[in-house]
Amino acid sequence: MPDWPSNLPSLLGHGLQLRPWLNADVESLHLASQNEDIQRWTTVPSPYTLSHAQDFVASRPMALAQRQVAPFAIAHGESDSLLGSCSLMRPDFANRVVEVGYWVAPWARGGGVAVKALTVLCDWAGEIGFERVEAVVLAGNDASAVVAERAGLGFEALLKSRVLLDGKRHDVRLHARVLTEAGGLAGVRSGA
Ligand SMILES: CC(C)(COP(=O)(O)OP(=O)(O)OC[C@H]1O[C@@H](n2cnc3c(N)ncnc32)[C@H](O)[C@@H]1OP(=O)(O)O)[C@@H](O)C(=O)NCCC(=O)NCCS
Repeated sequence: MPDWPSNLPSLLGHGLQLRPWLNADVESLHLASQNEDIQRWTTVPSPYTLSHAQDFVASRPMALAQRQVAPFAIAHGESDSLLGSCSLMRPDFANRVVEVGYWVAPWARGGGVAVKALTVLCDWAGEIGFERVEAVVLAGNDASAVVAERAGLGFEALLKSRVLLDGKRHDVRLHARVLTEAGGLAGVRSGA
């Protein structure tokens, strides 16, 4: 059975730190969440207000304690400034399977942050006992599909009409990495 943590650790790797959310992140979280790609491809509220950001940060410890999500802020390894978000979600403890979710703030894109963060997150998922990690990517979100592939989560299937979002049904791509097999790091570039 995976060993779900009661306190989120800080994970270091590839010039990044994945750490618990802090009150100091609220302003950057609010700003990043205005981004049209984050609005379009994730389930963040729209419009996204400052109180959404405050509530999100305040509720993360409870979400962890309820074993719903292990929510990491992606921060710069040296400055600690907020670069994005990545989480383990919907843990299936019996089958040792967990889903990942991620976004990168517009000011931090194009430098490999998502691939590196996802690689660190998948390694940690394996350390705590998960054996398969899945990413569910809306069809058309090509950048996210590339990120998943580069982090070692290969494309497995197109799930027709799998997700209901904003009143419309969407196809999704299922990507996965079996952690008991070799993988990951395929496309990690140097530099943070
Ligand atoms: C998808 C997202 C996380 C990528 O973040 P990032 O840190 O810029 O990603 P990386 O730099 O690690 O890698 C992105 C790769 O995708 C490629 N890419 C970017 N846009 C692309 C597109 N429209 N089509 C194909 N590839 C694309 C980049 O060229 C890069 O590959 P490269 O290393 O060969 O240059 C970011 O754009 C984002 O937050 N999007 C909105 C939220 C979202 O979609 N989250 C995922 C939900 S499943």
